[in-house]
Formats: sequence, structure tokens, C-alpha cells
Amino acid sequence: MCGIIGYVGEGDVKQIIEEGLSKLEYRGYDSAGIAKVLENKIFCKKEVEGIKKLFSGFESFDNVNAGMGHTRWATHGAVSEKNAHPHLCCEGEIAVVHNGIIENHKEIRDSLGQHDYISETDSEVAAHFIEEKMKEGKTILEALEALRDVIEGTFAILVVKRAEEKIFVCKEKSPIALGIGENGNYVASDIYAFSGFTERSIFLEDGDLAVVEQNSLKIFDKKGNIVERQIKDFEWEERRDLDDEHDHHMIREIQEQPDAVKRLLDSYETFQKEFFEEIAEKINSSDKIIITGSGSSFHSSMVGAKLLRDIGINARAIVASEFDETDVMEDTVVLAVSQSGETMDVLDAIDVADEIGCDILSIVNVPHSSIQRKSDISIEILAGQEICVASTKTFTNQLVTFYLICKELGKDIKFEKLVEDIEKTLERNQEISKAVAKNIKDENDLYVLGRNKYFPIAKEIALKLKEISYIHAEGLRGGELKHGTLALIEEGTPVVSLIPEKDSGIVSNVEEVESRGAKSLRTSPFYGCFELPESDFLPILFSITGFILTYHTAYEKDLPIDKPRNLAKSVTVR
Ligand code: AGP
Repeated sequence: MCGIIGYVGEGDVKQIIEEGLSKLEYRGYDSAGIAKVLENKIFCKKEVEGIKKLFSGFESFDNVNAGMGHTRWATHGAVSEKNAHPHLCCEGEIAVVHNGIIENHKEIRDSLGQHDYISETDSEVAAHFIEEKMKEGKTILEALEALRDVIEGTFAILVVKRAEEKIFVCKEKSPIALGIGENGNYVASDIYAFSGFTERSIFLEDGDLAVVEQNSLKIFDKKGNIVERQIKDFEWEERRDLDDEHDHHMIREIQEQPDAVKRLLDSYETFQKEFFEEIAEKINSSDKIIITGSGSSFHSSMVGAKLLRDIGINARAIVASEFDETDVMEDTVVLAVSQSGETMDVLDAIDVADEIGCDILSIVNVPHSSIQRKSDISIEILAGQEICVASTKTFTNQLVTFYLICKELGKDIKFEKLVEDIEKTLERNQEISKAVAKNIKDENDLYVLGRNKYFPIAKEIALKLKEISYIHAEGLRGGELKHGTLALIEEGTPVVSLIPEKDSGIVSNVEEVESRGAKSLRTSPFYGCFELPESDFLPILFSITGFILTYHTAYEKDLPIDKPRNLAKSVTVR
């Protein structure tokens, strides 16, 4: 995944890179590094203990006008200083940062002469490749062009050379945006890295090369022609600082849900109405709807598909990483769901669908994201920036979006009580969850039971417990217990069950586990250990209960709640 930021121009280069990297940490936080361009060499520093530590000891980059930084999510090679980017060539003349995967790095390496490799990464080969081409007399741009043509995989690569106040860029599949400033220009994995410094940007297209200088931005397409790409103005309201009330972004984001939902509901009445209408029209005019997403966004897609089926629409959810051409036909409408709008698996699914000629719709949180840019029509869920790796308010707003689409398609849904129901769920379950968290924190395994549209919610709660509380949890279909999984239940096994109605089918499944001695945590508006209002939106309220329980469990275990191990917020590799 990894995040990249570079800047050429006047001002405090160090501050720009430090801020940019902190904003990009959601792309990976295993290690980080920076390079600054000096007259006689490239200065590099790397760190595995976070961005603060990386920059401690630097006052500013005196008299330096060009530099770049990288925050890493390890794909090749352990988390270590030597594997952190930037990577230098043998002579230290140039430095390279890379986001993506160079699948044929071994072949490229074998095709080069003798070079000293320091790291175990796929990325380092890019520095040596460019060095070798420069020795053959090529310019950096020509070397980068040759590199672009030889790499198999995905990449956004920045290169700096000593004594040159320029950043050279190339990209294929991994996103990269240029930022146009007053006294200098920026390049980054996404626009938020330079938001606050400039709000004017250009998105590079696959195969583009670019040269970023203080007073100019040059872009070359695959054929080598200089091209103009559209300048986009953007706005991004940032929420990176924690206030006194919240210890973690996760709980702040959970508490923000009523406001986030209000914002989305208002937009349905106002500026997003036309997108809902257009999406409803597309859905109505197609025989088959495929909804696709990854992780939590796949779980919300499953709920969405069920809600659509309930009103007679032929909709199915397919996990993005397994989506292929057999899933769609030319007249299929594909609806991609993604918080970040950058998930590579979803982008790949879109490419497959696009190739076949399907209409592409999307539901995203991040405006201007790659998925939004590739869609014919896109709805923004307006949850605001989400920093914790776990999706919470964005999952909720994805579900609300599906309910709104159903309303637009003619279902009689009344949203008047929704925000109040969410507020009640949040208020009533904090203390309860703290007590339950103490009870389950040392468990190794936990099961969440759900049926029909509550099954994806059971999976979502289980995913949260795994990723944030490090408890092995599985969402199970209540009706399937007797076909095998019941064997896992023994005296004291914790089982959370989602019971929407007193007489729903799941009750007999809950009794099955209780009679085998399970530690039963019934979740229902009618009885059980959590307190939920009766509501038409129980999938949302159940998940919120699961989010609060996950937060307090991880809190009890003193875990790194916002940045769980091995994960990143935006998953831009396959
Ligand atoms: C959720 O808590 C996860 N961190 C993860 O499953 C996430 O939903 C998934 O990676 C998809 O991301 P997206 O919504 O940005 O596409």
C-alpha cells in the first residue's frame, strides 16, 4: 500500500513532508523514510518507530528545495530500517520511493549488471535500474520511461537526483496526484497529503510520466507526448487531532455516527438527490445488479443486495477479490462499494466489468478517489474522514445509502427515527459494553450468530473483533449451526446472537448453543444483555453495538486501537 509525498519549491520542505506523511499513515505505518536533495548527495533517513521519531532531530531542511517521503506497509521483506524507503542506487546519486508491487523484480534484477542491494524489497531494483540506464547515457526521464515499460505490476514511483531540484514520477495502477502550489508543486499518493498547502490538483493517468519542479509541472503520456490533464479543485475537512473527550479515533468516529447519518440523509433531500435518482433508474432498467466490495464494504454490499432482493431486484454481492468475467454480462449494472475509493481489488473488479461494457456505479466516502473517477454515477456517503483502520461510521453510512436507494426505488422507508435510534444505541450500550468487554477480553474464540440480512452483520462484528481486539471471531449463519459448526461450542464458549424479533428463527439456534453451555450474549431490542430500541434499522444498530463492544474490548487489552498490527486503512495492493 504505502504513502508517498514529494515537494519542490520554497518554504519548509521538512514541514510539508512531515505533515504529508502523517496524513498518509493510513496507507501503512510499518516504517517511514525521507530523502532530501543536496548539492553533492541525496540525504536519506529511515525509521521503524513512527513519523515523529523520523523527524526528531531535524530543525528544518535548511536551503533545501526538494524532498520526498514514504510511509510503508511491508509487502516484500520484513519491517526494518533497511527495507524502509527511500532506496538509493549504488553511488547514492538517486533515490526512489515506490508504492505498489514490482512482480518481476527478480527478472529485472537479473537483467542488470553488478549492483549492491541493501534491502529485501521489490522496490530497490528501480533505483539500480535507473542508475544503470543513466550510465548508458539516458536521462532520468528516459530511464524512467524504460523502467515503466519493463515493470510488471503496479507502481507509483518518485525519483530524485542529487543537485537537481526536481521530482520525476511514473505510475501504473497505483494512484498519484500532483498538487499545484503558489511557491512550489507537490506530488503524493492522494490529494489529502497536500491538502492544507494547496487545494488544486491533477490526477495522473496510468502510464503517465511527470516532472515536478518549483515553477512547472510537465506530464507525458505513454507515447511520450506532453499532455495537459484537467486541474481539479477540491476541499477536504480534516479531523486528525483527538480532543480531550476521546482517547482514540475509533470511539470518536463511533460517536460521530448520528451527525454522519444526518449529513447523508440531508444530502438525499438536496444535492445528492439527482445521483440517487440516476442510480435508481440504472437499477430499474437492468436485469442484474452485482454489488462488490472488500472487507466491511463487502459486508455492507451483502446487506444491500438482500435489501434490493427484498423489493424484487435481482441483486447479488460478490467479494471484489474474486470478481471475474463470469459474474457479469454487458447489461449487468455493477455497484462498487468502498470507503477509501482506492481498494485495488475493487478497482480490478471495475476494470473487468468495464471491459465487458457494464455500467459502473459506486458508493464511496472519499471524493475524487480512483473508484469515484472510474464510475458513471457515484454517491458519496459523507461520513467525513475516518482515521481508525476499522470502518465504523462509514459502514453505517454505507448501509444507510442502501436503504436510501431502496426508498428511491419505491420502498416505503421512514428515516425520521433513525438518528434518534442510533443515539439511544450509543448512549445505552457504553457501560454495558465495558462490562461485557471485561468478560470476553481473554477469550481466544468467539462466535456471532445471525440469519438472513443479519448474517453479514454477524460477519462484520466478527471482523471488527478480529482486527481491533485480536480475538478470533467468526460470524455464523444461525441455521447452519446444526450442519457442523455446533461442534465448536463447549462450556463457556462466548456467542453473540443477533435477534431482531422475539419469534425469529435465530432464537432456536441460540437455544441450541445455550443448551451446550455457551456464554450467551443475546442482542435484541426485546431482551438480552445489550439495550436496543425497536427499530426498522436493526442491521445498523446491531453493528453499532458490535463496534462499541470491540472498542472497549481492545481498550481493556491495551491494544493499538487505531492502528492494529499488520493492517492499513487503504489497501492498494492485490
Ligand atoms: C474494515 O474495518 C476494514 N479495515 C477493511 O475490511 C475495509 O473495509 C476494506 O479493506 C475495504 O476498504 P474500502 O472500504 O476502503 O474499500
